[in-house]
Amino acid sequence: MAVGILLVGGLGTRLSPLTNKTPKPMLPIANLPVTEHQLLVAKAAGITKVVLATAYLAETFVPYFGDGSKWGIELKYALETEPLGTGGAIRNAAELILAEISDHEPIVVFNGDVLSRHNLTAQIELHQSAAASVTLHLVTVEDARPYGCVPFDENGQVTDFLEKMDNPITNTINAGCYVFNPQVIKDIELGKVVSVEREIFPELLKAGNVIQSFVDNSYWLDMGTPKSLLKGSQDYVGNHEYIVGENSKISESAKISGASAIGNNVTIGANVEVISSIIRDGVTISDGSKLENVFVESNTTVSKATSAKGAYLADGEIIDLKL
Ligand code: GTP
Repeated sequence: MAVGILLVGGLGTRLSPLTNKTPKPMLPIANLPVTEHQLLVAKAAGITKVVLATAYLAETFVPYFGDGSKWGIELKYALETEPLGTGGAIRNAAELILAEISDHEPIVVFNGDVLSRHNLTAQIELHQSAAASVTLHLVTVEDARPYGCVPFDENGQVTDFLEKMDNPITNTINAGCYVFNPQVIKDIELGKVVSVEREIFPELLKAGNVIQSFVDNSYWLDMGTPKSLLKGSQDYVGNHEYIVGENSKISESAKISGASAIGNNVTIGANVEVISSIIRDGVTISDGSKLENVFVESNTTVSKATSAKGAYLADGEIIDLKL
């Protein structure tokens, strides 16, 4: 059996202003926080103990997830008073589980901003059969230039971690889901700010440890920008014109399409058009408004005949998202 750590403490600056009041992993994809999608993936792979590594807006997680029992998971919360970076966050979170697990129980770490349908069970099995220090999920992308790339040899062992470059030598990239041998995490200094991608992984390689690659090109999305958040939500809504939460009222003359996600307690007025958008809980959209590819903040009232495209809407504010 494996245990999980979800990294949910980053500032999410690329998603600002959407992340001003909501941490990135609590933003909704098809009406469920990204973290909830990840807990479902963890549970499906048999993981029943998870630590959320929180820092930025840490207080927003407990009211939603509680002790995790609703998902059949024993959930704990680690808190960093200052963000410790991904490596420091993993070390800090591990303090809550290391005493409860055996020396060989794999620890699965999820970047909190990734939507993935890869075969996590197979990744864990590969980690064990390869007796690796860490096993990384990699995906193949058409253009690896915006990412650091991760080459590996004929045995699937990672050979390098390369920064972004104009001519990447391979198009496999780090997909943000890692299976760790617990000892590797124990060896990180507690309380130190350190990046797992930029420091720990390259150091492990240098010291001769086996980092195994697990290439799986199933659905994968890093939802770290407004454009990819909207895309992720549409992908998860799927073939429906829209989905809608509880206690929402939609006028008969309103037209909603493009895999939009409408939250709970939303009121949509007459002749409103909503296309490919995310409308959060408690929103009122007044008559005659036309919204396309927008993100409407919780409890916002959109005034009559508002027209907006590719924007973030909050009370009295329409901000271009430059999609
Ligand atoms: P940007 O500021 O837009 O780059 O986003 P980010 O702050 O989330 O950083 P990044 O996308 O590199 O982080 C990847 C994952 O690690 C995200 O799920 C973050 O929430 C998480 N993360 C990043 N830094 C920290 C940290 O210092 N502490 C914790 N607990 N999580 C972190």
